[in-house]
Amino acid sequence: MRVQQIPARIRWAVEVMDIRPDDHVLEIGCGAGYGVEAICERLETGKMFAIDRSESGVDRTKRRAHKYIEAGRLTVRQIDLATLRVPVRRLDKVFAFNVNLFWVRDCADEVTLLHERLVAGGAIYLFYEVTRTQSAPEVIKKSSAALLDAGFRVSVVENKAPAVVGIIGRK
Ligand SMILES: C[S@@+](CC[C@H](N)C(=O)[O-])C[C@H]1O[C@@H](n2cnc3c(N)ncnc32)[C@H](O)[C@@H]1O
Repeated sequence: MRVQQIPARIRWAVEVMDIRPDDHVLEIGCGAGYGVEAICERLETGKMFAIDRSESGVDRTKRRAHKYIEAGRLTVRQIDLATLRVPVRRLDKVFAFNVNLFWVRDCADEVTLLHERLVAGGAIYLFYEVTRTQSAPEVIKKSSAALLDAGFRVSVVENKAPAVVGIIGRK
């Protein structure tokens, strides 16, 4: 089977995250594994933990990124974010792309959990592809409010081509 290239929207988002070789990164909703691949190729001593609640998402990520799993750089698990078990103050960066839980419903518990798991100075990066049906201002407003309520300092980045919005919460 032909392996799909990492899309430009993911490449742009990972550039914004400025991944360091020793970062500890969590991805929520890894899906096809594009983000995992783009991040793992930048890690050296760092580690990545990727979760998706769907079996097919986890299978696709494992297939795409098996070399990083074998190298001990990547762990992939089928779990819902609400049940995440990671020690507190362990993560440098949290990444989620097109994961709508941050703007379609109350996500206060999940965002608080992520705030606790990040190191001081760590950050959460929520990206949204603007071609989708929901309006960008609505996504920015709801995601920003959720991050602010949990104690993050929030900033927004926007790009035209690829059309991506990023809501960044710094601890
Ligand atoms: C639209 S897909 C995006 C996949 C990938 N991030 C991308 O941009 O190509 C959203 C993914 O997030 C996962 N997801 C949604 N809510 C989740 C949650 N609460 N915990 C874990 N995974 C979740 C879904 O199963 C799905 O695979």
